[in-house]
Amino acid sequence: MSSRFDEIIDRRHTMCEKYDGIERAGRPADTIPLWVADMDFRSPDCVAEALHRLADHNIYGYTGAGTEYFEPIRSWFSTRFGWEPKEEWLVCTPGVVYGFSAAINALTQEGDAVMIQQPVYYPFAGAIRESGRVLVNSPLHEEDGVYRMEPAEEMERRIVENNVKVFLLCSPHNPVGRVWTRAELETVNEICLRRGVIVISDEIHADFTFPGHPHTVFASLSAKAEQNCVICTAPSKTFNLAGLQTSNLFVPNPELRAKLQKLMNVLHYWRPNVAGIVACMAAYRGGAPWLDELLPYLAGNVALVRSFLSKRLPQLRLVEPEGTYLLWIDCSGLGLSDEELADLVNRRARLWVDEGPMFGPGGEGFLRVNAACPRAVLQEALWRLEEAIR
Ligand SMILES: Cc1ncc(COP(=O)(O)O)c(C=O)c1O
Repeated sequence: MSSRFDEIIDRRHTMCEKYDGIERAGRPADTIPLWVADMDFRSPDCVAEALHRLADHNIYGYTGAGTEYFEPIRSWFSTRFGWEPKEEWLVCTPGVVYGFSAAINALTQEGDAVMIQQPVYYPFAGAIRESGRVLVNSPLHEEDGVYRMEPAEEMERRIVENNVKVFLLCSPHNPVGRVWTRAELETVNEICLRRGVIVISDEIHADFTFPGHPHTVFASLSAKAEQNCVICTAPSKTFNLAGLQTSNLFVPNPELRAKLQKLMNVLHYWRPNVAGIVACMAAYRGGAPWLDELLPYLAGNVALVRSFLSKRLPQLRLVEPEGTYLLWIDCSGLGLSDEELADLVNRRARLWVDEGPMFGPGGEGFLRVNAACPRAVLQEALWRLEEAIR
């Protein structure tokens, strides 16, 4: 039975980086882009309807986002995660990367150490280095095909030795696809509380979890955790709204929030984009049925990759994702250097995927593949990969 997500939509010439960037990057015109984390699916109809109403009104003055804006967000997090954010905790930012970068700058000084868990979404390292902070890596490692945090004692020792001030957590984790368990998050929380480390938790992928892997909002761990964290959320991954640049940070601790707000004031960012907030409200209000239809479709795409690799490309190994729509594929079985692997994928297979080393140590020999596309496109990408390897 076909799904609405099977439709192949021509996204070229829509000011979209994923497709219109192909030519700019000097890649072959028939390249299949499976890199940047947006989806080749239309957003829920309720988003288009809300944006049509905005366009019909055709006035786009300064925004003021109050309780009417907050309520659908609260309801979403309450219903889906059993977490009740408060309106005064909300700080809107034009994107999550902007948000965690601002939080790092507001909550630490130049030269302070910030911990991340590599291999991880590359703007984490960028945000730390570009703002003159020191990157401290608490490396993830694989045990029987599952990525784990480093042992608690090691993590704590590293935090103490490097005088870490902030832990920038990726939860669920991009690219390794882990949805951290409550117990794992509690370990991080306990260590960070004991050592005075603030947690900035990037939970942008929270809505993409597969059955059996519930997401835990870091602030929901305990009252102490709540007062020691910044939660970064957005409707952008969930409903494919990344170009609308709207994200919602929650900072329950008034002192931390005042510091972040002060920086936002210095930058004079007060008023979110009107299209972004209209789409965000509409999506959280009416987008649940669409998302509930999308999640099994994505699981089907993962199943396609899993089965194709095991039957036809056994040299490649899919790291089984618990969440996100990004697949972390171990290609070390091909025995190629990272340059050779990149050449095979980019030039021969004409695919555009993210190369593992971009994610830092531990990424060598891996590729990150965005599986949020029509299944036929993913199938074509797999065939191209097989042909290139042959
Ligand atoms: C973990 C993570 N955080 C943040 C982002 C980007 O967020 P934004 O576009 O809101 O800056 C992504 C996008 O891929 C991501 O994977």
